[in-house]
Amino acid sequence: MTETLNFALELARQAGRLLCRLYEQRQIVGRKSSEIDLVTRADLASEQLIVDALHNRFPEHAILAEEGSGDRADLSGETAWLWLVDPLDGTVNYAHGYPVWGVSLALARGGQVMLGVVYDPLRDEIFWAERGEGAWCNGRQLHVSTVACLKEALVATGFPYRRATIADNNLAEFNAIMPRVQGIRRAGAAVLDLAHLAAGRLDGYWEMHLKPWDWAAGWLLVTEAGGVVTGLHGEPWRLGMNHLAASNGLLHQELLTVLKEARTGTMDR
Ligand code: IPD
Ligand code: CA
Ligand code: CA
Repeated sequence: MTETLNFALELARQAGRLLCRLYEQRQIVGRKSSEIDLVTRADLASEQLIVDALHNRFPEHAILAEEGSGDRADLSGETAWLWLVDPLDGTVNYAHGYPVWGVSLALARGGQVMLGVVYDPLRDEIFWAERGEGAWCNGRQLHVSTVACLKEALVATGFPYRRATIADNNLAEFNAIMPRVQGIRRAGAAVLDLAHLAAGRLDGYWEMHLKPWDWAAGWLLVTEAGGVVTGLHGEPWRLGMNHLAASNGLLHQELLTVLKEARTGTMDR
């Protein structure tokens, strides 16, 4: 796997360099699920670079990429090798020049994430994990934090693009968690939220209505760093699930309990 990991690390860096070159342009070329769900020229260019490189290097692997230039791939485990690509996570930040965004690549086999890479080009931090080999950032092994309760915790979340039109928009959960923690960050890049959780900079995270490419690499980073990732009901997280709670493990049950109290049956599964 090491050769594949090295390839993925170099590819994430290449995509990051491309995103840095296009950063000043902030050229919006489309919108997706809602008016605020942007596509920039950079999303498309980064995806093209990544998908072309993966197709050339691994012609037998399937690719699920956010902007649609990959293959039709199913997540049930039928597809032997599957890359999950978020070519630019934090598009709204990027489009405003807010410096929190990154690239995420994950490789799954039979529905199990085996390798994950998250690159933050502006900090030049590259996070990676291979199943069973730990989680790393710039050569340093990562461990989740030891904060044991919400009142000592810094947590992160995000809100769906369709938040103006759906009831299950995370505002009830946000309101319930906010008074119980030291702080909530809504930084706007889920792949970096999970990388920072793996690095012990955050203690918990939850979100709903995201896609497999948002969470696949981060899931492996957090679990390899000693953390816990589940669905919002505590069930084991799997590719394709559209809700996720992650933590250092120590405060996981407390996080789930408060989220459960907040939801009052609005969540679709
Ligand atoms: C978004 C970011 C954000 C999350 C969004 C995601 P994108 O990904 O991860 O933090 O809250 O809802 O869709 O669209 O910038 O790749
Ligand atoms: Ca994303
Ligand atoms: Ca994206």
